[in-house]
Amino acid sequence: MKTIKGSNAFWQFLNDIALSGYGDTIFLNSYEYPKYECAVETIQKRFVQQVKAKYPMHNYGRSAPILNALRMVKSEDEIAITKQACDITAKAFRRCLETVKPGMYEYEVQAEIEYIFKKNGASGHAYAPIIASGKNACCLHYCKNQSLLNDGDLILFDIGCELKNYSSDLSRTIPINGKFTERQRDCYNAVLRVMKEITKLYRPGGTINEINETTYKLMEQEMIALGLFTAEDVKKQNPDKPLYKKYLMHGVSHHIGLDVHDSIDKFKLFEPGMILTCEPGLYIREEGIGIRIENDLLITESEPINLFEGLPTEIEEIEAAMGNISLA
Ligand code: GLY
Ligand code: MN
Ligand code: MN
Repeated sequence: MKTIKGSNAFWQFLNDIALSGYGDTIFLNSYEYPKYECAVETIQKRFVQQVKAKYPMHNYGRSAPILNALRMVKSEDEIAITKQACDITAKAFRRCLETVKPGMYEYEVQAEIEYIFKKNGASGHAYAPIIASGKNACCLHYCKNQSLLNDGDLILFDIGCELKNYSSDLSRTIPINGKFTERQRDCYNAVLRVMKEITKLYRPGGTINEINETTYKLMEQEMIALGLFTAEDVKKQNPDKPLYKKYLMHGVSHHIGLDVHDSIDKFKLFEPGMILTCEPGLYIREEGIGIRIENDLLITESEPINLFEGLPTEIEEIEAAMGNISLA
C-alpha cells in the first residue's frame, strides 16, 4: 500500500503512528558510505536527534541497509532517467569536441558544458566537474578548472549532469589541438584496451573487487610496454607498494544513482538493474599525461549496456569529431 502525504503533514503523521501503540521501532536514515566523512553536523543528523529527543522510549533502527539494497538495483523508471541524464552529458561532451582549442581556459570549456546541461533540463552537475588539461589531469580531484589550454596537451573531462536527482558520470580524454601525439596515442590506447577487457566483467555475479584487481594486472602489463618500468622491476617490487600504483592510484568502478558514488552493500554481487561506472586511467605526471575513460554500464542478464554507447571513444572517432567545426 502506498501512502503519500505533503511534507507539512509529517510531524503529525509521525506522532499518530509513534504513539498509536503499534509503532515500536522507528527506522531513521543516514548516509552510510565507507569513504564518507562529514566534519559538520548534517541536516540528516539533526533530524535523527530531533526524532530521538521527541520519542526517547522507542526502539530505533537504521534504514540505510534496507534502502541501500533497494538503491543498488534500479527500476525501469530509474534506468530510463539515468539514460536521459547520460544522453545530456554525452551532448555536453560532443559540444567540447567541437569547441575545445588551444588558448581557451578550462573554465570556458566548463561554461560550454553547463550551457548544454541547463539547456537540456538537467538541474546541474552531479558532482564538481573536472576539466583538467596537461598535468592537471594527474591531480585526481582537480576541480579548479582555471588553466590555459596548451597546444599539444591532452584535456581530461570528468563530467556528469544530474537529472531528476539521478546522476551520470562520464570521463573522456582528448587532444586540445585535435590530434594525439604518438606517445599520447600509445598511452590512450593502453587504457582503452584495458577498458574493453574489463567491460566483460560487468555481468551477474561480478564484483568491484574483481574489476579492480583485473585492471591493475592488465595496466601493469601496459605500463611495462609503455616503458614506465620493467618486468624485472615488478619482480623486485615491494608487494605493499606495487609500481603500477604510481600511475593508477584509484578504484575503477562504483555504483551510480541518487548519488554519484551511490551507497552500497559492498558484499552484494552484481545483478541485472545495477548501474556501475567503468573508469580505468593512467597518470604519468612526469610527462604531463593524464588519461581516464569512463562509461556507465547497466548490468543485464548477459552483456552490459553502455549508457554512453555511440559517444566517440576511439582515437579516430575523437580526431574526426574534433575536425568537424559545426556548432549546434
Ligand atoms: N566523478 C567522480 C568519479 O568518477 O568517481
Ligand atoms: Mn567520473
Ligand atoms: Mn566515476
